[in-house]
This record gives sequence, C-alpha cells and structure tokens, in this order.
Amino acid sequence: MESEVNDLIKEIESAKLETAEALEAFRLRFLSRNGLVQAFMGRLKEVAPEARRATGQLLNGLKVQAESAFAAGKETIEACADVGLADFPSDATLPPPPFSVGSAHPLSIVRNRILEIFRRLGFGLAEGPEIEDDWHNFTALNFPPDHPAREMQDTFFVARNPDIVLRTHTSPVQIRVLKHKQPPVRVIMPGRVYRNEAITARAHCLFHQIEGLYVDKNVSFRDLKDTLYFFVREMFGQETKIRFRASYFPFTEPSAEMDISCLICKGKGCNVCKQTGWVEILGSGMVHPNVLTASGVDPDQYSGFAFGMGV
Ligand code: PHE
Repeated sequence: MESEVNDLIKEIESAKLETAEALEAFRLRFLSRNGLVQAFMGRLKEVAPEARRATGQLLNGLKVQAESAFAAGKETIEACADVGLADFPSDATLPPPPFSVGSAHPLSIVRNRILEIFRRLGFGLAEGPEIEDDWHNFTALNFPPDHPAREMQDTFFVARNPDIVLRTHTSPVQIRVLKHKQPPVRVIMPGRVYRNEAITARAHCLFHQIEGLYVDKNVSFRDLKDTLYFFVREMFGQETKIRFRASYFPFTEPSAEMDISCLICKGKGCNVCKQTGWVEILGSGMVHPNVLTASGVDPDQYSGFAFGMGV
C-alpha cells in the first residue's frame, strides 16, 4: 500500500492541470467520493494496528497533496479565463517573444559588408550629393570638354541648367573630400549613380557604386594592388583568383580594371561570366596629377590610388 500511495503522490506532482477538463478529471480520480483518496482511507482498517498511525499520516499527505494541486490548478485556470487566455496556460505575465519586422535589402547587406572590410583597413566614410555640377562630375576629374561620357546619351542633365547633372559615378566625391581635407586621406564613398543607358538584365539607369581613395606621401601602385587583393579575399574567399587588365580613365594614370574568377562556375565559363570564367568588378588606378591639382593637393608631394566598384 505504501508504494502504491507513493506512486500516486508522484503522479499528482507531475499532473498538468491547465484546462478545466483536466482539472475535473483530476478531481474525479482523486478527490470525489469514489476517488482514490477515499478508497485508500477506507483500506486503512486492513492495515495492522501498529502500522496504522504511519500509514494514516501517509494517506493524509496524499490527500493534502491532491487538494493543493487541485486548488492551484483551479486558480491558474480562473486567472487565465479572467484575461481571456484560457488557451494559454503558460505564464501570461511573461514578455512576448521578440520578432523582427522585415529584413535588410540585399544591396544594403552587400554594401555594408564592403564598407566593413575597408573600415578594418582604416578607411573613413564619406558621401556626396547625387545631383552634381559638371565641374565635380567631369572637369575636375580631367575629362576633356569633348569627352564622349558627357554626351546626352550617357548622362542625365538637368533640363533647365545643363551645368547640373545626376552624377554618373561616385568619383566626384573624391574631389569633394580632397578639397575639404589635405592628405593623408583614406576614404570609402558609397552612393547611387545615374546613367542614361538602355535598361537590360545587366544595366539600369540607376545603380550603386562604392568609391575608394587613398592619398598620402609615397602611395604606389603596389599599395593599390595590396589593398584590393585583401578586399577581394575577404569579400569572396581566399581562393578567389584575381587579374588586372590595363585600362583607361581620364582621372587615373595608369589605370586598371580588376576581374575575379567567376564565383558561379568557379572559372569554367557560364552565363554570368559570358563564358570567360572572369567577372569584372572594378575600375582603379593612380590618381591623375591633374585631379590632385584641381582639388588643391600638390601632386609633387602626394600621390594616391582610387577605385570604383558596382555594389
Ligand atoms: N568612376 C569609374 C566608373 O564609374 C570607376 C573608377 C573609379 C575608376 C576610380 C578608377 C578610379 O566606371
């Protein structure tokens, strides 16, 4: 009998009395007139007289246990019903679980990863206006007056004032930064740019660039390569292959475009890399002396590199 009673006490301890039905079933099983507590009390007289006192105490413990479990369950169910939470037997006073609304845009995710890598190299952040004047967007960047990039087909001009354009690249921010502060300058400049291009799967009239600029004494092409190699390996993985191709930009000399091995086909050739195994990711070069001069920086004292990539 003793072990039977102990088993029942364990059952009571683990009973989940969270619904009215469970509570009523519990009451019928243990506390009703035909319930187990009464049944065991009735069997007390079968117990040997010398053990009766101890068994009586045990049965009393069973009864108290069952009654207090019933009372606690009843209280919980009534409290939940009061606030309309009959279906939420858990603690209704706990704070709700956190939830997030929406998520970051893919362009923001990629931009932030790029900025973070250059931040670790000590690059500061700068931004310039999306509506630029011709001087910052072209002239100060050493574009000759008849340069084809200025043509109506490529650039959005403001109709009432052809001296004002939607910037066609983030390079004008280089000029703004250098005019504002003498070297050493190490900045990364993200932003939206606009070009009057046919819209295709690859090209849009608005896109996102990130410009980099490093001007100091004795900055060399080797610094450019080191910096960009570091960036590519951090961004795309240590195994990424890199190649430089000689190129031309009015505002850098020498200039180079940088390709990385295609991340989709690992260099085997696919639609993304147009079957070449390589993807162009940026333009770069040593800042042209004319650009430094236009920005008020002495090209005999300072040199620098710049790069621009699409996000
Ligand atoms: N501004 C160039 C472009 O938009 C990229 C570039 C930036 C090239 C800096 C060299 C140096 O294509």
